Amino acid sequence: MGKLDGKVAIITGSTSGMGRDTAYLFAKEGAKVVVTGRNEARAKAVVDKIKADGGEAMYVLADTSDLGAPQKIFDATMEAYGTVDILFNNAGMLSVAPILDCSLEEFQKVMNVNVTSAFLLTKLVAPVMKAKGKGSIINTSSVAGCAAHWGPVAYCTSKHAMNGLTKAMAMELGPEIRVNGIQPGAIRTAMLDSAGGDEALGFMKVRAPLQRFGEGSEIATVALFFATDDSSFITGQLVRVDGGVDC
Ligand SMILES: NC(=O)c1ccc[n+]([C@@H]2O[C@H](COP(=O)([O-])OP(=O)(O)OC[C@H]3O[C@@H](n4cnc5c(N)ncnc54)[C@H](OP(=O)(O)O)[C@@H]3O)[C@@H](O)[C@H]2O)c1
Repeated sequence: MGKLDGKVAIITGSTSGMGRDTAYLFAKEGAKVVVTGRNEARAKAVVDKIKADGGEAMYVLADTSDLGAPQKIFDATMEAYGTVDILFNNAGMLSVAPILDCSLEEFQKVMNVNVTSAFLLTKLVAPVMKAKGKGSIINTSSVAGCAAHWGPVAYCTSKHAMNGLTKAMAMELGPEIRVNGIQPGAIRTAMLDSAGGDEALGFMKVRAPLQRFGEGSEIATVALFFATDDSSFITGQLVRVDGGVDC
């Protein structure tokens, strides 16, 4: 008996990194998983592995910088599975440009991918969850949502916005729907590599009591906690999963 038997979970940004690890864990726990991202080869590989391991999943290709993407993801989910119980708003992009180098286009793209798509997808799934009387929404923020030294202007702004979105959604979508956020520190994923990996971010290990980078699987277990009744009296909370770095 899995902790998510009979549940349908949309996980954005699940072709890679912590979203992919969460897709594997949710499927292992019995959820039907909707995998999303832009890269078809990786999306297919995630779905194939879940199915090979005896689980159920499908993928939807959608670029969340396009504000039509949430509708596409929602429609495909409803067509395939007829409902949705869990939404993990996890897709995200990094921007390393400081404000004087960050164009309006780049700023808006980061906000669309990291925040606005989560806002739009939540507006679509929430009525379904409300009608069922139950649902769990999880948002990926960052330690860059705690302090500015973890990410330049667009990324930092987008992750602070995810904190506010989490709290406002929790306030407005209860009592049926619980909404919580995860603030990862340095997690060993493609995004971490693109930011310079060990060479550029090794200082985060030094600042963390646990003295290492995290793994995507260590985000997945926290997402599972928020997705299940193990966290039934928790909403509107942001939990840092960062090895204990001092923000
Ligand atoms: N790694 C860290 O240290 C760290 C720390 C704090 C917060 N985070 C946050 O964690 C989340 C997951 O990142 P990750 O570290 O797991 O990185 P990752 O391995 O690069 O995964 C990012 C995921 O987001 C998807 N994505 C990116 N841009 C997209 C777009 N325009 N449209 C649709 N999907 C898009 C990617 O899918 P495709 O490539 O298939 O489009 C991929 O599945 C992000 O929100 C990130 O900001 C990461």
